[in-house]
Amino acid sequence: LAAALIVAAGGGERLGAGRPKAFVALAGRPMVEWSIDAMRAVDAIDEIVVALPPGERAPAGVTGVPGGASRSQSVRAALEAVPDADPVVVHDAARPLVTPRLIERALAALESRAADGVVAAAPVADTVKRAGEDGGVVETLDRSRLWAVQTPQVFRRAALVRALDRPDAILAAATDDASLVEEAGGAVHIVPGPPENLKVTEPLDLEIAELLLARRR
Ligand code: C5P
Repeated sequence: LAAALIVAAGGGERLGAGRPKAFVALAGRPMVEWSIDAMRAVDAIDEIVVALPPGERAPAGVTGVPGGASRSQSVRAALEAVPDADPVVVHDAARPLVTPRLIERALAALESRAADGVVAAAPVADTVKRAGEDGGVVETLDRSRLWAVQTPQVFRRAALVRALDRPDAILAAATDDASLVEEAGGAVHIVPGPPENLKVTEPLDLEIAELLLARRR
């Protein structure tokens, strides 16, 4: 059966809310609880593990583990708590607008495409340029092939275990788990995720998430 690993151990310095981001109040409850609800609504998910920052406790009904020094180390710690789970859904607590439907679509694609991993992603709307440190533009990328990658990211257990079996410095530099699976030679596919599945990073994101969640209720 599948397990969901929700990483919630980040400090949330950019949000500046004075407590870890995943535990900041959002539409009346700690941010992480919105993601837990979405995972609970997916029949295929049997167990939910949350990687926690120091000083926070797991909400009722989910397993808590201490998070790691980096995001991928937190994923690794959570994965160790569910030794039999396969496949595995990895999700950032910082994306509280995730829906059960999106999680189900990713799990279905993992089966139908026989991939090692499937990631939710939105087509990039902005033109993306690469620039040097001095601000000089080096190139303009072909937007039609670019995707802004989100979570959930779902993996076959063996592929994720292998991807995370790397030195801490490599894990610390990774901004998602799929990139580690790709580096290990795994096949990763995309399923379109709605732009609404935004990541709360800055105070403005918190305001937008609050509005969108209020509209849902
Ligand atoms: O910092 P950022 O928003 O990119 O973090 C993405 C997700 O990873 C957040 O949900 C955060 O709580 C989590 N994280 C973690 N352990 C860390 C760093 C980040 O669980 N050491």
